[in-house]
Amino acid sequence: MIPTVTLPNGIKMPALGYGVFRMKDPLLCEEAVVQAIQCGYRLIDTAAAYENEEAVGRAIRRCGVPREELFVTTKLWITDTSYEGAKRGFARSMQRLGLEYLDLYLIHQPYNDYYGAWRTLEELYAAGKVRAIGVDNFTQDKLADLMYWNKVKPAVNLVECNAFFQREDDRLYMQSRNIQMQAWSPLAAGQGRLLENETLRAIAADHGKSVAQIVLRWLVQRNIVPLIKSGNPQRMQENLAVFDFSLTDAEMHRIAALDTGHTAFSPRSTGPAVEDFLRASSSYHV
Ligand SMILES: NC(=O)c1ccc[n+]([C@@H]2O[C@H](COP(=O)([O-])OP(=O)(O)OC[C@H]3O[C@@H](n4cnc5c(N)ncnc54)[C@H](OP(=O)(O)O)[C@@H]3O)[C@@H](O)[C@H]2O)c1
Repeated sequence: MIPTVTLPNGIKMPALGYGVFRMKDPLLCEEAVVQAIQCGYRLIDTAAAYENEEAVGRAIRRCGVPREELFVTTKLWITDTSYEGAKRGFARSMQRLGLEYLDLYLIHQPYNDYYGAWRTLEELYAAGKVRAIGVDNFTQDKLADLMYWNKVKPAVNLVECNAFFQREDDRLYMQSRNIQMQAWSPLAAGQGRLLENETLRAIAADHGKSVAQIVLRWLVQRNIVPLIKSGNPQRMQENLAVFDFSLTDAEMHRIAALDTGHTAFSPRSTGPAVEDFLRASSSYHV
C-alpha cells in the first residue's frame, strides 16, 4: 500500500502517483493505467491537454478497484482558463472521464485569466464536485498573489522537480503556506542523463536499488509527491518500491549537491518563450 499525505482540508492523497503525459494512443494509455492501478498505484494524473481523459476513464471503470479508493487528478488547459471557460472545461473533462466527482482539479498553467478560473474552481469545490483544488507550474510570486485575493487556498502546486532542478526554496515556501508540492518529470523525463549520474548510481548501488528509486525516494523524503510515468510494467512496479528504505542525511546532502537550479526543459522565462508556448498551446484539442 502506498502511504498517503494529508491535504490542508483533511483529505488523503497517495504519496506517489502515476502520470499519463505523452500517452496519446488510447489503447496503450488505457492498458497502462489498468496495469498501474492493478500493480498498486492509486493516484492517476491526467489533463485535458494530454488528450487521454477518455482512455483514463475507461481504465478506471475496468481496473477492478473501487472508484473511492482511487485519487484522480485532471487539469484545466490555458484556452479554458477563465471563469466561464473553466465551467466548460470541467464539464468536458468530467464527461470524457465519465466520473461523478474529481479528487483534484488543477489550473495547468499560470496564463490567461486564472483568477476567473480560480473562482469557478472554488465553486466546484463548494458544490462537492471536486475534493481539492490547486495549481500547476505556479512560481512563488504567483502563488502568493493568488492566495492573497482568494478565499480557498490551493491545496497543491505541481511543479517540475528532479535531482538536477531541486527547488528547495519553493518547497520551503509551499511547506510554510501549507501547500502540498507535487513533482512532475521526477526523472527529468530522461533529460540530462539523470539515470547515468555517478552520485546517484553509487547511492543506488549501496541500497541495492535503481537510480529511479533513489530519486523518487529522495523526493518522498522531502515531503514532495512525485508523479512518475512508465509504460513498462516492470518499471511501474520498480517505481512503487520506494517505501521500504530510507536515505541517510549524508545521502540527502550528496543529492542536494547535484542541483543546477535550472529546468531540464526549455525555460519559459522570457516574453518570446511564453509567446511561443501560448501559440502552441492554442492548438491543443481540449
Ligand atoms: N503539469 C505539468 O506541467 C506536467 C509536465 C510534465 C509532466 N507532468 C506529469 O508528470 C508525469 C511524469 O513526467 P514525465 O512523464 O514527463 O517524466 P518522468 O516520469 O520523469 O520520466 C518518464 C520517462 O522515464 C522512463 N522511466 C520511468 N521509470 C523508469 C525507471 N524505473 N527506470 C528507467 N526509466 C524509467 C519512462 O520510460 P518507460 O515508459 O519506457 O518506462 C519515460 O520515458 C507525467 O506523466 C504527467 O502526469 C506534468
